[in-house]
Amino acid sequence: MDQYAVFGHPIAHSRSPQIHRMFAQQTQENLEYQAILAPLEGFAASWRTFVAQGGCGANVTVPFKQEALSVCDTLSTRAQQAQAVNTLIVDQQSGQVQGDNTDGVGLVRDIQTHLNYSLANKRVLILGAGGAVRGIIQPLLEQGVHTLHIANRTPQKAQALVVAFTGPLSASALDTLDQMAAFDVVINATSASLSGQMPTLPASLLTTKSLAYDLVYSAQATPFMQWAQQAGAGQVADGLGMLVEQAAEAFYLWRQVRPHSAPVLAALRAQLS
Ligand code: ATR
Repeated sequence: MDQYAVFGHPIAHSRSPQIHRMFAQQTQENLEYQAILAPLEGFAASWRTFVAQGGCGANVTVPFKQEALSVCDTLSTRAQQAQAVNTLIVDQQSGQVQGDNTDGVGLVRDIQTHLNYSLANKRVLILGAGGAVRGIIQPLLEQGVHTLHIANRTPQKAQALVVAFTGPLSASALDTLDQMAAFDVVINATSASLSGQMPTLPASLLTTKSLAYDLVYSAQATPFMQWAQQAGAGQVADGLGMLVEQAAEAFYLWRQVRPHSAPVLAALRAQLS
């Protein structure tokens, strides 16, 4: 049977095996998907062992997304722009390894499909300028956003991203956001949520028409989501839909079959609550 896996450290919490098994069942694709805990210094070796044993492809998660670039023979434009790989595909004829990044398209599909929100001509604010942000900038720009402002605790990192991409981009520190007009979409991509924190933000960033989106998912509202609710955002979402959509795109890359994401997202949501 065709073998797939997700590599990470830690990995026990990963929902990817469950998501891909549901996709496989739904599409009647004959495959196995496992979670592999790679040693912190041993991602490449762990991946090569998996391929030698017949592995056809994998997902890559924290902290190996950058390191995964080095095991690829070719990279998609998306992976090059993100400078990170979350999906590895082994060409069954040549054995060549293609690296891709489906995180950004996952975010865009979740916003458009599950949240029913069009990004065209919208003013978008991203909070944070780390690895996760690099992967979502180009897919957001491709939706024809009006402006994409990146605000980060360390403003130089936000500025560096503005220089690296082409489009209606701007950058600032977090503490000058009170001087800006409200945004249609505010995306939290700081890792502060993971430790139950969030930067101090002015409520004036949001209106009743705004979408506030946290890239992380959680059973309870994250500190960012709580802030957005209090600040009066029209729609508040976590990143569970992005997780399912990035997986759906990876599944498509491996199997050339597009699974239905909605029932899988509903099943995961029911488990979380
Ligand atoms: P990821 O891969 O999740 O993007 P990362 O590359 O470590 O992780 O980036 C973390 C981001 O969260 C950075 O933008 C970081 O800001 P700095 O560049 O100033 O370090 C931001 N971040 C982390 N903790 C934060 C906090 N308590 N308040 C504000 N921003 C924070």
